[in-house]
Amino acid sequence: MGIVNPTRTTFALTTPLYYVNGLPHIGSAYTTIAADAIARFKRALGHPVLFVTGTDEHGQKIERTAAAKGLEPQAFCDQIVPNFLKLWDVLNIKYDRFSRTSAERHQQIVNQFFERVWAKGDIYLGQQKGWYCVSCEEFKEERELLPGNRCPIHTNKEVEWRDEENYFFRLSKYQDDLLKLYADNPDFIQPISRRNEVLNFVKQGLQDFSITRVNVNCGFPMPKDQKHTLYVWFDALLAYITGMLEPDDEPTLENAIAKWYPFNLHLIGKDILRFHAVYWPAMLMSAGLELPEKVFGHGFLTKDGQKMGKSNDNTIDPIDLVERYGADAVRYYFLKEIEFGKDGDFNEIRFINVLNADLANDLGNLLNRTLNMVKKYCGGKIPPVKSADIADSHPLKAIGANLAQEVESAYNALAFNRACEATMTLVRACNKYIDEQAPWTLYKQGNSAAVGEILYAVLESVRLAAYLLAPIIPNISNDVYTQLGFTVNFNDQNTFTHIPFAIHSQWGLLSDAQILGEPKPIFKRIDTPSPTN
Ligand code: MSP
Repeated sequence: MGIVNPTRTTFALTTPLYYVNGLPHIGSAYTTIAADAIARFKRALGHPVLFVTGTDEHGQKIERTAAAKGLEPQAFCDQIVPNFLKLWDVLNIKYDRFSRTSAERHQQIVNQFFERVWAKGDIYLGQQKGWYCVSCEEFKEERELLPGNRCPIHTNKEVEWRDEENYFFRLSKYQDDLLKLYADNPDFIQPISRRNEVLNFVKQGLQDFSITRVNVNCGFPMPKDQKHTLYVWFDALLAYITGMLEPDDEPTLENAIAKWYPFNLHLIGKDILRFHAVYWPAMLMSAGLELPEKVFGHGFLTKDGQKMGKSNDNTIDPIDLVERYGADAVRYYFLKEIEFGKDGDFNEIRFINVLNADLANDLGNLLNRTLNMVKKYCGGKIPPVKSADIADSHPLKAIGANLAQEVESAYNALAFNRACEATMTLVRACNKYIDEQAPWTLYKQGNSAAVGEILYAVLESVRLAAYLLAPIIPNISNDVYTQLGFTVNFNDQNTFTHIPFAIHSQWGLLSDAQILGEPKPIFKRIDTPSPTN
């Protein structure tokens, strides 16, 4: 059972398929922003990328929420889904497939997959007794429950007792294969804390899990016994594979896995780790399909230190945030300020301070004042300096020369904060360098060669910084590149052809053949709101 072939160049990644029982929130936006940054980065490296996102439209949670609104589940889902599409649009998410679990072709993929697992003898009828959390769509162990039979994740919800006939999947049969998978592929589950969590869970012994429900209609009928509906998670995971179908393909499993399969990366939140790192690979093993390369479980976002949720009335509406501050601001804050993998906090004052410090001051002012100096001291033209003529020990060239490698390894490790920090080190060094070199004094002294070299080195460093941050702040990078005289677009999916990483990540690319654009602020300073009470 092989993990992804190392010579393969395609890169397929997923976000979770979001439940549509409510409007999208910042937690859903978080994973999708990260996935988009990785997809953009891989495209710039030259990998053909398939980025799958979508919605999970089955199960009891959706069924009940729809009923409470007096709607059929499908009609209800159809009302919510456009909100996700709008959010991805305003956040500038360039996904390739939007996989809805309610899609008809998905049912065909599910049925074909089911047949394989059935033929393997891995499905049997049994009696399911246990505590079920509808919000998690998951059975809970009695020892996990909080007082009052409440769910440890949805602390205001009581779990419900179930004693019913269900079909089970023989998860226990795959325990040794799973342990071997984790041992042979130490990077399969990341970060390491999540890997340990999974190892402990699996070593305790796996129990078979039920993959059908009775008394739930929102879902696909179980192919062998129509009294049962397939469990929402059984079909939801498979919608990743359905998302691999080309739009005109016949919906067969063979077609779905023909080009992009297996997945290189499943990005998820830590609460759905077991489904992805235990159940999913076991299901794939049973169906004789290859396994994904990596499952990365990120942390949870809190607001002002409090768990975010409807019960605390402290959810953040991502569309409102983007409308107020712009997509790049939101993308930058979440990826730069929170170590991917750890829990992180949103606090509006800190949000504003980070954006003002990094994007408005350090990067934005730097470009603006340098372009104004170029206007004043160099006739508005890029100084005719060649990188080769600048000493390797030059403080900016020295940082710039090693940056690509550092940032590439940070993106590959999903260490977005490290990619940002490393890049901002160059930007901050530029500000310090200008202050120390004082080109305005050198200009007065008539040393125009020195002025030219200083301004060239700074402009080139700003270009490089904009390039390396483009997966995170593509609109700002576009503005920087435009002002430096490039006519490229970081929002065009084909960045590899026009702006390939191998060339643009190298310090020294800027040339005096470029015609500089008008200096314009690339990020407007945000005023800190005055306290309202
Ligand atoms: N439908 C399932 C996923 C099926 S994938 C085949 C699901 N959906 S969800 O909408 O409830 O959650 C989607 C993702 O949002 C999860 O990865 C979850 O971790 C993430 N988040 C929900 N709240 C969050 C925060 N407060 N912070 C960060 N991520 C959070 O589970």
